[in-house]
Amino acid sequence: MGTDIQQRIDDYIDNQAQLAQLRFITCGSVDDGKSTLIGRILYESNKIFEDQLTALTSDSKKVGTQGSDIDLALLVDGLNAEREQGITIDVAYRYFTTEHRKFIVADTPGHEQYTRNMVTGASTADVAVILVDATLGILPQTRRHSFIASLLGIKHAVLAINKMDKVDFDEKIFRDIVEAYQSFTDKLNFESITPIPLSALNGDNVIRRSQFTNWYKGPTLLGYLETVDPGQSQLDHSFRFPVQWVNRPDSSFRGYSGTIVAGSIEKGQQVRVLPSGEVANVADITLYQSSLDRAVVEQAVTISLDHDVDISRGDVLVKADEPCEVSDQFQVSVVWMDQGSGFIGRSYFMKIGEQEVNATITDIKYKYNINTFEQLSSRAIDLNEIGEMTISLDKPVPFEAFKTCKAMGAFVLIDRYSHATVGAGMINFSLRRAQNVHRQALVVDKAARAKLNGHAGKVLWFTGLSGSGKSTIANALEQVLYKRGIRTYVLDGDNVRHGLNKDLGFTDADRIENIRRISEVAKLMVDAGVVVLTSFISPFRSERDMARSLFDTDEFVEIYIDVTLETAEQRDPKGLYKKARRGELPNFTGIDSDYEAPENAEIDVDSGKLSVEKCVEKILDNVKWDKMVE
Ligand code: ADX
Repeated sequence: MGTDIQQRIDDYIDNQAQLAQLRFITCGSVDDGKSTLIGRILYESNKIFEDQLTALTSDSKKVGTQGSDIDLALLVDGLNAEREQGITIDVAYRYFTTEHRKFIVADTPGHEQYTRNMVTGASTADVAVILVDATLGILPQTRRHSFIASLLGIKHAVLAINKMDKVDFDEKIFRDIVEAYQSFTDKLNFESITPIPLSALNGDNVIRRSQFTNWYKGPTLLGYLETVDPGQSQLDHSFRFPVQWVNRPDSSFRGYSGTIVAGSIEKGQQVRVLPSGEVANVADITLYQSSLDRAVVEQAVTISLDHDVDISRGDVLVKADEPCEVSDQFQVSVVWMDQGSGFIGRSYFMKIGEQEVNATITDIKYKYNINTFEQLSSRAIDLNEIGEMTISLDKPVPFEAFKTCKAMGAFVLIDRYSHATVGAGMINFSLRRAQNVHRQALVVDKAARAKLNGHAGKVLWFTGLSGSGKSTIANALEQVLYKRGIRTYVLDGDNVRHGLNKDLGFTDADRIENIRRISEVAKLMVDAGVVVLTSFISPFRSERDMARSLFDTDEFVEIYIDVTLETAEQRDPKGLYKKARRGELPNFTGIDSDYEAPENAEIDVDSGKLSVEKCVEKILDNVKWDKMVE
């Protein structure tokens, strides 16, 4: 990056606190005159700041690594992973200033397939300017944009009714559109809605009052934007400082670096580290090379403490007497951003603040039809849909509800394998059950039971196509183990689906739930000291890995019964492949439903080449049995 731009960014940051700033998003499509409107504002407001700072657009990787992220949308930060994949979330941020204010406009495409872009742009906006074409009135996209803006906590909406010149500045047309808009916005959470009749093309009521709308007494668009109260600033909020890295140049200094996302802190004040709860006093605050007495929201600083405490990346420093909550289960709203669906029971990486944790979708309460605001029940969420769900993390994190502190309540979900960002979410609240359910310690434990049995529990996880021979081999293996005095149990797909999983079919969502339940049952059985043989297609890598994650090393053995589809189809022991080929059995694995072959199975058994006895032998030879079994 040129030093000129760097200098401007530095100046910009220095000025930040001096001039009040408003972030707004424009929603609408090109046809509504959105580009014209933005162009008009930039052009007429004269002091165009934008082009010197075009480097500050979200798709500029350079800027993203130069520490200027503080000016970018919160969720854009989280979307880095996706940007690194070369997929651009196209949000153009434009900057301009007038005498009264500095403005940051997030300009995002309007079509439904760009919902995620809009979410990104709206995530830090104070005001949404919702454009409506006066000749067309309220469209489904008007409802969708309003819904998303409201969901993302934007309090103030401007209903910018454009192209008034094309309808002769007719007051009635304006009033009718306003009324139609208000008829559905009572379901939303806007604090104010300000309708403005305008013509972006001619500049009527954009900055200059129009001579054609004497019946209109409200503000011009810029007049409104210059005076609207953006609400409580994050400066007045309690101090929140997610630690980005522990800065330890030598053994004599240890500092904690990051960006203050809310409030302020002073030297000498007592801070608390969350989640641990330890307290210490602030010894020093440094910004670049200089020491500060006080640092405020959006400043990237290094804080050192008066004594050593255990702090790692992702921990949050708060003032000792103004802590935030810590939890591992939440109700959240999520905008799904991936071509692949999100499923109940599937686990993702979650990036919240500076922390990455494992998160499982435990339920999808409902998803919205964002055109009608209807709530639909579903076990999966698809691209550009918004859902209310519950998630469970593998460890507690400090957080706040998105509506009180965006930075502490926003997160992204990342696919474990592709590392693509698949969802952007907002925490609504933590689930109280997280606080009220505790583990009960039991005296007779796994080790005691293993001793009594003469061997430890284990799970032999068979996976493979239908007809690969999983059940046949598991059955033969169990007989051998039984003869050796080992306590075993076979959990078999066809059998379990007659009882515990009677309610499940063969959609991806149902298979995921099938495997989730089986892995939990297997975990209990292993805890009880049993050697469990599970025989399920278990077609998805994600759920097999989830099952594995429930067990200790060596306790979980993945056994891939590896045959080609042709072999399995030739065998067709239950005639199901034929049915599937005739189109009578939808979602059949290998035909029109995926099978993701294991990449890291402990044992690979080619049942196409080996006899059942040889398969059993290979498994017996390759499992690490404890002494008692051998
Ligand atoms: S899994 O995909 O959820 O792991 P599971 O192993 O429980 O499947 O059940 C697979 C068995 O159900 C198959 O062996 C077959 O007998 C039967 N089945 C019925 N319909 C299907 C289908 N659409 N796809 C695969 N197996 C099916």
